[in-house]
Amino acid sequence: MVTTTRRLRAHRAKYVCAKRHLVSPLVALQLPGVTSTSILASAAAFALFAGACTRAGSGAPDLASTPASVALRPPLTPSDTRMERFVDSVLAGLTLEEKLGQLTQNVLSAAVTGPQLPEASTADIRAGRIGSFLGTSGAEVTRNLQRVAMEQSRAKIPLLFAYDVIHGFRTIFPTPLAEAASWDPAAVERAARVAAAEGAANGLHWTFAPMVDIARDPRWGRIIEGSGEDPYLGSVMAAARVRGFQGADSTTGTPHKLRDTLTLIATAKHFVSYGAAEGGRDYNVADVPPRTLREIYLPPFHAAANAGARSVMASFNELDGVPMHANGELINGVLRREWGWDGILVSDYTGVMELLNHGVAADTAEAARISIRAGVDVDMVSTFFFKKLPAEVAAGRVPIAVIDSAVRRVLRAKYERGLFEDPYRFSNVARERALTLAPAFVAEARDMARRSIVLLKNEGGVLPLRKDLRAIAVIGPLADDATSALGAWAGAGRPEDAVTPLAGIRQAVGAGGRVLYARGASADTADSSGFAESVRVAREADAVVLVIGEREDMSGEAHSRSSLDLPGVQNELARTVYAAARASGKPMVAVLMNGRPLSVPWLAENVPAIVEAWHLGVQTGPALADVLFGDFNPSGKLPVSVLRTVGQVPTYYNHKNTGRPPVEGIRWNSKYIDVPWTPLWPFGHGLSYTTFAYDTPRVSKTEIGPTDSLTVSVDVTNTGARAGEEVVQLYVRDDAASVTRPVKMLRGFRRVMLRPAERRTLTFTLRPQDLAFYDLRMRHVVEPGSFTVWAAGSSDGGQPVRFRVVGTTAEVPDRGPLPAGWRP
Ligand code: BGC
Repeated sequence: MVTTTRRLRAHRAKYVCAKRHLVSPLVALQLPGVTSTSILASAAAFALFAGACTRAGSGAPDLASTPASVALRPPLTPSDTRMERFVDSVLAGLTLEEKLGQLTQNVLSAAVTGPQLPEASTADIRAGRIGSFLGTSGAEVTRNLQRVAMEQSRAKIPLLFAYDVIHGFRTIFPTPLAEAASWDPAAVERAARVAAAEGAANGLHWTFAPMVDIARDPRWGRIIEGSGEDPYLGSVMAAARVRGFQGADSTTGTPHKLRDTLTLIATAKHFVSYGAAEGGRDYNVADVPPRTLREIYLPPFHAAANAGARSVMASFNELDGVPMHANGELINGVLRREWGWDGILVSDYTGVMELLNHGVAADTAEAARISIRAGVDVDMVSTFFFKKLPAEVAAGRVPIAVIDSAVRRVLRAKYERGLFEDPYRFSNVARERALTLAPAFVAEARDMARRSIVLLKNEGGVLPLRKDLRAIAVIGPLADDATSALGAWAGAGRPEDAVTPLAGIRQAVGAGGRVLYARGASADTADSSGFAESVRVAREADAVVLVIGEREDMSGEAHSRSSLDLPGVQNELARTVYAAARASGKPMVAVLMNGRPLSVPWLAENVPAIVEAWHLGVQTGPALADVLFGDFNPSGKLPVSVLRTVGQVPTYYNHKNTGRPPVEGIRWNSKYIDVPWTPLWPFGHGLSYTTFAYDTPRVSKTEIGPTDSLTVSVDVTNTGARAGEEVVQLYVRDDAASVTRPVKMLRGFRRVMLRPAERRTLTFTLRPQDLAFYDLRMRHVVEPGSFTVWAAGSSDGGQPVRFRVVGTTAEVPDRGPLPAGWRP
């Protein structure tokens, strides 16, 4: 038998790249507007290989673990016959235990540094019991661990290093929900590109992001990690992030550059309906009807798969009695067979083990068996695959072909990353030093942060503030909280890297300006002893900026809340400071920092200017100051409805009409008696320092066939005195269909920068896919009838225009929510 090492050598000699370019990281990262900086100049010395090798041929999909009764789509990954031959040859040389080792992922603390390696882990690597690690990073550590695999194990298969690079590795960007508020997929793609470059320079190959779960319940702490409530916006953001992490190249149409050492394998997670946790309680049961699953929860995964995500993570929840780690119908059925996706399906942390708690597995062997047969390839942390599948295979309960398919997927990823050629290619200490917190990355983080800010209210033009005010009071428990600025899931981020709102405002006003600071209260206790000091500084200043909301540990995984109110005594602090500011005629701005949209009805009613600043990452302060002082005109829009009270959960813009649609002032219809039925601020809302006027949209045809497309055009004018960017949103409604349809569905959006008085026409295409839905028989169809369209700056605005679909119902294949080849 040829040893793996010899095969590798032979393979290395044969693997000739058709196009191999030496490019600077500047080019490879495609960061527009970033010119030569010291960091990039120094990093350029590495002359990174960015040219992907041309892939030839098209191989058959691997069907071993999927039922064969349904027509299969070709795999979405570029097929490479050389890769397949190589992978087969590696596979042929592995024992069953070594194969299962490839399917086993273990956690290794990030605290492990330097040459000291934990003996338990190195013993596992040596014995071939491990294929990938989670949670460890660093060029040196990963090199040392890799060396054990390459020099001391029998099979000599390189390890994969995975990590939750969610919104940055060390250069922390805004949280994903905040980034989604930018409605700027190009910027979001750049942010993911930077996160990947920095993560990969720290020895990583694989990130467990993007999270693409739709969330209609802000109590759920993980709402912070996704793109909000809408499947279309969520799909756009999912695709943008996958492209960014994996290095899609728009200029050449290359779907990913995983051979490139500036990229990471992306993982769309958590498959599927994790965000529908009952009661907003993390990990809870999801009860989602099939049509809602298809139309709301699955589309962002479909978009991520189409964008080439090489990995998907199963979710912790059960769906209609079937835990997702046991859900072959959705993993093998929908994801693999129907969509033709052929990447690595990784379990969530102990997800395989949790089948015992779910009560679908009586013992550990059954948990392993059910889950690998359902399509889970990699067992994160449970180690049940490794321990239990040998006996299951021997007894004929798990076909070896199922194991082989899973191992192939892992080996392909290692091959695509170039690890069989050079296992140490991501473990370069000099590159790590050069790219970690690189100034160009920090500049991107600032740009992303200011694009993520949403101006919720600006009565009387309180904002922007003048920088030459005599004194500004900055008050509130989050004003100088660097840890909270980073937000939940902050990777390897450090508070000392973050610029707080207070520091950002101080920098902006410079030495000439006075900034008075009072913490006022803590974010969550009943202590109001700081109120008096807050009142004092509010009186002394010319303007008041109150920074309140949630600390970073009030959202995220296992951090759900039963209330959406400002925690602690922050509402009382706001009232007290407002009274002081008002009495002395001072303008006041409330800046909200939070992981979830908060219910702030008192603020909305009383405080003239309110800014939604989420958790914006290392550049929170400068980005916020850019907006507060008008150096950047805000253009963010809400990716999620802001509710008046937690009692309104769930409230989302794309709801159904009901038989008694709510009308204020009339009794017997669908509302509350104690609070309006509408949100405080709707999905898509966000103001600018200028104003925009929309004309009535025009449709290219008033009648189309069910498989035709049409265009919708709208004229938008900047009616204010400043240049500004507007996010023009296109909404559609199917007025009557065989099943009820949402009152509005986002089907497109476009950013447009307009000078004062400038008018531009924006044109959108509506395709059959945009009008289709799942009918009574779960066919994806366009039905004849009337449709209404709006183009507006928010989900609650716009003038309606109608068109008709004529003819007979047509079935339209569901190829995912975005047009083929979509790119920002
Ligand atoms: C989370 C995942 C995460 C994994 C590894 C789990 O608890 O649900 O999103 O990727 O841990 O850290």
